[in-house]
Amino acid sequence: MIRGKVFYRGEFIEAGIEVDGGRIKKIGKLVKGKEVRGVILPAGIDVHVHLRDFDEAHKETIETGTMAAKYGGICLVVDQPNTRPVVDSEKVYFERMEKAKSDVHVDYTLNLALTNSNFGEIAGILEKIRSRYFVPAVGEVFIQHSNDNLQIRYETLRLAISNLKNVLLTIHAEDPAYVDTGFPNFRFRKKEAEVFAVQKCLTISNFHFCHISTRDAAERICNSDSTFEVTPHHLLLSTDDYRRLGYAVNVNPPLRSRDEAEWLLKHFHMADILASDHAPHTLEDKKSGAPGFPGVETMYPIFVHLAAMRIIRFGDLVEKIASNPARIFGFRGYGEIRVGNYANFAVFDLKNVRKIRAEDLHSRCDWTPYEGFNAVFPDKVYLKGTDVLEVAEPTGEVLGAEFQNYKKSF
Ligand code: DOR
Ligand code: ZN
Repeated sequence: MIRGKVFYRGEFIEAGIEVDGGRIKKIGKLVKGKEVRGVILPAGIDVHVHLRDFDEAHKETIETGTMAAKYGGICLVVDQPNTRPVVDSEKVYFERMEKAKSDVHVDYTLNLALTNSNFGEIAGILEKIRSRYFVPAVGEVFIQHSNDNLQIRYETLRLAISNLKNVLLTIHAEDPAYVDTGFPNFRFRKKEAEVFAVQKCLTISNFHFCHISTRDAAERICNSDSTFEVTPHHLLLSTDDYRRLGYAVNVNPPLRSRDEAEWLLKHFHMADILASDHAPHTLEDKKSGAPGFPGVETMYPIFVHLAAMRIIRFGDLVEKIASNPARIFGFRGYGEIRVGNYANFAVFDLKNVRKIRAEDLHSRCDWTPYEGFNAVFPDKVYLKGTDVLEVAEPTGEVLGAEFQNYKKSF
């Protein structure tokens, strides 16, 4: 089908890829295909997006969020359950999945919330959902946090996980004892909040930690069996960007010092996953201090540019944006260009560097903290063998129950 410089088994090879029935049938130096310019990388998986919709459709919808994902070279997103209504029961889960089925431009899965209200029934809820859908994880679990309905105490977390089998738990680790309210939030949400929460959680069980923003927390997790993700904003932005971003600067966990961000970027190889924490809010909401940055469309393009500049390695990027998310969350058939996998790949012409402009992006929230940053956007994004940049309708799929058997046990 196509030929070019394919990232295959950890290196670039000049090869063709043949596709049949949405899956990769053959990869080889003699396999014929239409020559493409640039590099062919596995399409990305973003394990942390907030696609809002329902009562917050003015910020983002499943349709606009997955559209942004496809223009950013992402073939699968994991949506977070801190929506309105909160995804804390099978009823809300099923409603959201029903909507997603007709609306998604890329493949889609949804986490289940664990809260102080549903922890007693969580195992039963999970079982009911699993008869129909693949639940990638429980969480992001907020440690007794200001998102009122979505908070949990360490003791409750301990009780809940004793009933939870074979499911990954993802944690938003910020301990409320070190968090105050105020603007800009980086002056009020201390590093200690993250470090202490991680430390405490590690005494309870193994987890997947969302958006780690400090060296101290990263090193502690690397000394354990747990895994963690980093975000583009904690690696590339810092409290210095307050001057530029002004009222839009709030994000949880907050931006840290330039030194901290530089350390995280330099140690990108230590992270397990790169995820965007795409958290769209309108500028109006940002003016009132709403925390969060959009990022699902800009993550892969910015990082491909960083790899082309040799600031990070392509091998690390592909591992953190594709193969590790597939392995850690259990997405069989995703994450690598290899025979038998879905034909999900993105073509990036490394010479085609563009400045990011909010007006060119597809999220409904209409702004980006990366205005003016250099990036390499994909020219083609293949989802199960079809270049979805050429298709206007939503053609993604929601992940069904069949993936469940593949999950490693936790
Ligand atoms: O900045 C954030 N925004 N952090 C979170 O944990 C939640 C997210 C959101 O949903 O807006
Ligand atoms: Zn989040």
